[in-house]
This record gives sequence, C-alpha cells and structure tokens, in this order.
Amino acid sequence: MTFEAMWRDLLPVGRSATSGGYRRTPWTSPEAELREWFAEAALARGLEVETDAMGNQVAWWRPTTPTELPAVLTGSHLDSVHDGGAFDGPLGVVSALAAIDVLRDRGFEPTRAIGVSVFTEEEGSRFGLACLGSRLVTGATTWEAVRRRRDRDGIHLDDALSAAGLDPGGELMSLADVGCFVELHVEQGRDLVDRDVAVGVASEIWPHGRYRFDFTGEANHAGTTRMEDRRDPMLTYAMTALAANKQARLADQRATFGRLEVTPNGTNAVPSHVTAWLDARCSDDESLAELVETITRQSHDRASRDGTSLTVTAESVSSSVSFDPDLARSLAAIGDWPVIPTQAGHDAGILSAAGIPTAMLFVRNPTGVSHSPDERAETADCLAGVEALADTLSMLAS
Ligand code: GLV
Ligand code: MN
Ligand code: MN
Repeated sequence: MTFEAMWRDLLPVGRSATSGGYRRTPWTSPEAELREWFAEAALARGLEVETDAMGNQVAWWRPTTPTELPAVLTGSHLDSVHDGGAFDGPLGVVSALAAIDVLRDRGFEPTRAIGVSVFTEEEGSRFGLACLGSRLVTGATTWEAVRRRRDRDGIHLDDALSAAGLDPGGELMSLADVGCFVELHVEQGRDLVDRDVAVGVASEIWPHGRYRFDFTGEANHAGTTRMEDRRDPMLTYAMTALAANKQARLADQRATFGRLEVTPNGTNAVPSHVTAWLDARCSDDESLAELVETITRQSHDRASRDGTSLTVTAESVSSSVSFDPDLARSLAAIGDWPVIPTQAGHDAGILSAAGIPTAMLFVRNPTGVSHSPDERAETADCLAGVEALADTLSMLAS
C-alpha cells in the first residue's frame, strides 16, 4: 500500500465533522482504531507487531541473518491535541512504513533490525504529561508516579487503560536493544519554507513546561456586588495572561495560556475559581525557570491587590535536548539538508534524554501552522520525506 493510500485510510479517523480538526484522544475509540490500523498495516508487510501494557506499539523488520547488533528505531505517535491537524505524529508513522516499502523495492537487506514505533499520549492532551508513553518506556517517569493522574472527566489513568482493554502497570516496550532512534515529523513552523527546502534535520528542542495556575476568589452576584467589594480571580488571571505574553515577547521566548476552567462559569456571577494552564518555552533551562518565576511573582502581586490567592503547580516539564551532533551531521549530509532547532516537544527528546543517540527529520509545512486543522504538508514533500527516511535507515541499518 502506497504512502498516499495509507494516508487516505487515516484521514477520516477521529476527525470532527464540526471543526474539521482531529480528536485522537489517547485510549478512546479513534485511538484504538489507529492502533488496529497500525497493526494491520505492519502485519501486511510481514513485520512482527508488539503492543505493550500502555498501548505503545513497535513493528519489527528483522534481518534474515539473526544478529546481536543494536536495532534502529523510527516512528512517532498517532494521538492528537484536541482539534489538531492530520500530520503531527501520523506523518512519522506512515512515512516509516512507506520507507520500509521503498527499501524493499530497492532490494535493501538490513543487517540489523529496523523497528517502527508508535508512542501513546505524546501530546499529553488527556493526562497532562507530555510524552507519557515514551517517558514510561525510558524510565523518565514511573507507573506509580502517574497512575492516579486524572483526565478532565476525573477518570484515573489506570481506569482509562483498563477501559481500553490494556493492562495498567503491566509490561512496557523494551528499548534495551535499540541503538538509535530517528523520528520524522511535520515541521511546526516556517523555517523550511523560508529556506525553500522540503526536508530538514533537528539540532535541538527548547525546554518547555506546563504549569497549572489555580486562582481563588469569592463567588458573588454580578449586579449587586460593588466593583470595589469583589474578589475576582478572573481579573488576576487576565493580568497574568497579559504579563506572560509581555515577558515572553521581551526575551523572544514563548508563553501561552491555551486552556481555562471557570467556576461556577455563569455570566451573571463573579467566579470563585479560575484554573488556567500556562505553556512556557525558552531556549535554555535557566531562562525557562526565570520566565515562570517572573510570571508567578507578577501574578502573586496582582492577587494581593485583587484579594484573591494563587497556587502554581508544574504538571509537565521537559528539559532542553541537544540531538546527537554526529548523527545530525551524517543525516544532513545525505541531502544537504539544513539543521534547525525546534520549540516543539517530541518523543525523540525523551529517547535522547535517556541516552539513545537520536535524530529528527522535518518535512516542510507550507502554512507553518500546527496543533490546528490548518496544519499542512504537500504530498510531494511527504514523499521527499519518505525517501529521506529510507536513505537514513539504509545508512543506519547497513
Ligand atoms: C507537542 O507537540 C508540544 O510541543 O506540545
Ligand atoms: Mn508530534
Ligand atoms: Mn504536537
């Protein structure tokens, strides 16, 4: 099955008829359908498929002569943010399967195993921790530390897994035999557009984190409560959002409040609580810590003027990642591709932090937009990405 045919198969899965965006939430039925699709596509290619206790998957193309040489792993994720685009994640998985087809058409015989992996909950859209599947597999977090996390409906992670027919706390994919990892991903900015090239190689990932801001005030009547008598947490939140934006702009960093919960959430009531999530990203770990500290300090100052209170909880923090420079150089040399940094998080960052030599290939995105239905990649660029990945795998698995 060609890249285009696989892509067509996936297009309807989890797509919202109203927004046109994807809702491929981990451990829900669209995600189960994607997992099943992956297993079928891999089995149709004669690959050995393993699914672990969390739903992480890997499909192996083993060399004809058994070997002790470490394996080459490639792949990405199939889950999406709420109302995300089609490419973030699936492009890396579909390209990996298509690259195996290209290598076979070329008559290539790997001397070491090539695995195609799919990591679960990469976006952290359900349980708030980015790259949950790969963090567990690499030991960056533990089952005990995450099992009681709740989703927006109050469902615990272990119950979500059981409901999906998986095995909470059970055996996870082993990366012990993996010698290197290469993740292909749609670019989530316009660097490759500006450079007029279809493919790039990643140099580093900016450190990034998610922080829950809980603002508490006092619920009261929107008409009868004099303005000076209010303790309105929405005001504290609003000033915090403006301060975060200003601080990030001043230092070419990133700060976003993209999610908000208001209690009681009534038009004619001053709220009692506002919970808002800050996503912050900087070029180095110290700057990230400073940015969040500054925003928090300004928020506390404002809270004392508003008669509200505030607590801040770090829910997911990922340190900066520099990808293996030798690997990046040898990939870049294949096609004279540019080596560029990214501000987006990836499972590749988690595997790299775990000591596995890791690289990423990016495919041009003409809109530069991501985490939105407007995310795009032209078919010709996707096919260039498949060729680039095939060249990379043949270099690494020879
Ligand atoms: C994942 O895509 C992230 O960067 O949040
Ligand atoms: Mn992704
Ligand atoms: Mn993403």
